[in-house]
Amino acid sequence: MTALLRFDGERACEADIEAHTPEMREQRRHLRRQLAVSPGDRVLDVGCGPGYLISELVDPVGPDGEVCGIDISASMLDLARKRCATAGARVSLTAGRCEEIPFPEGTFDAAVSSQVYEYVADIERALAELYRVLRPGGRAVVLDTDWDSLVWHSADRSRMRRILELWEDHVADPRLPRRLGPLLQEAGFIEESLTTLTFLNRRCHRDTYSYWQVGFIEAFLADHPGADPHETTAWSRELRELDAAGRYFFSLGRYAFTVVKPDE
Ligand SMILES: C[S@@+](CC[C@H](N)C(=O)[O-])C[C@H]1O[C@@H](n2cnc3c(N)ncnc32)[C@H](O)[C@@H]1O
Repeated sequence: MTALLRFDGERACEADIEAHTPEMREQRRHLRRQLAVSPGDRVLDVGCGPGYLISELVDPVGPDGEVCGIDISASMLDLARKRCATAGARVSLTAGRCEEIPFPEGTFDAAVSSQVYEYVADIERALAELYRVLRPGGRAVVLDTDWDSLVWHSADRSRMRRILELWEDHVADPRLPRRLGPLLQEAGFIEESLTTLTFLNRRCHRDTYSYWQVGFIEAFLADHPGADPHETTAWSRELRELDAAGRYFFSLGRYAFTVVKPDE
């Protein structure tokens, strides 16, 4: 079985740069809007990655609030610690798995998890943990990608299909959002809203989300036993050529569930 994509070392640094793209900035704006934290709130970011969202939540929770992050990647936590260094005790960053969140029951007023649960095999357990650490009446926002929503132009559609089929192995469930509503409900949450974001790129350069995806896919397929390195090279070369010719097209859908834990 192919290992899932891990966010260590070089991959963590690339995710850190990708976080600057307009699509990722808009995604964080959307998450902050949905999360709607108040001054004094204690907030958890599950799978916080390089800590951008955490650093952006420090001001909204104010001097009496706290923003905590957990992640399984030491490289990501290092990046997040550097990013949030000036926030002092208002930010805490802890190594931890979302299947076993290292905080007591009812600790948080709000929680967010963006692009994490699609990597998690035991999603039921992860959602039960999210539910446990929220206080009654607390809100959570969960965002993931449905990789079937991807439209990526290529003159060689069968090659594109083969590459993307292999890329699906980088996550535990490439189509998680279509199951997430019922799963959140079974965990005990009440759904407030389901919103979508579309990442749309007509160019492929460092300031676009899909430019970094090309790199992630190349790196993942380099270690994938089913991938043909020549095909991967030809695939990424075509994308650069399409960009140079003004014929590049990439569109990807993300889904954000806003849920609450019922009051007791
Ligand atoms: C695609 S990144 C998303 C990072 C950040 N949430 C964002 O939206 O930019 C996925 C993150 O989830 C973390 N992760 C993956 N599986 C995890 C798990 N079981 N528990 C906690 N974190 C996990 C990875 O280390 C990585 O930092």
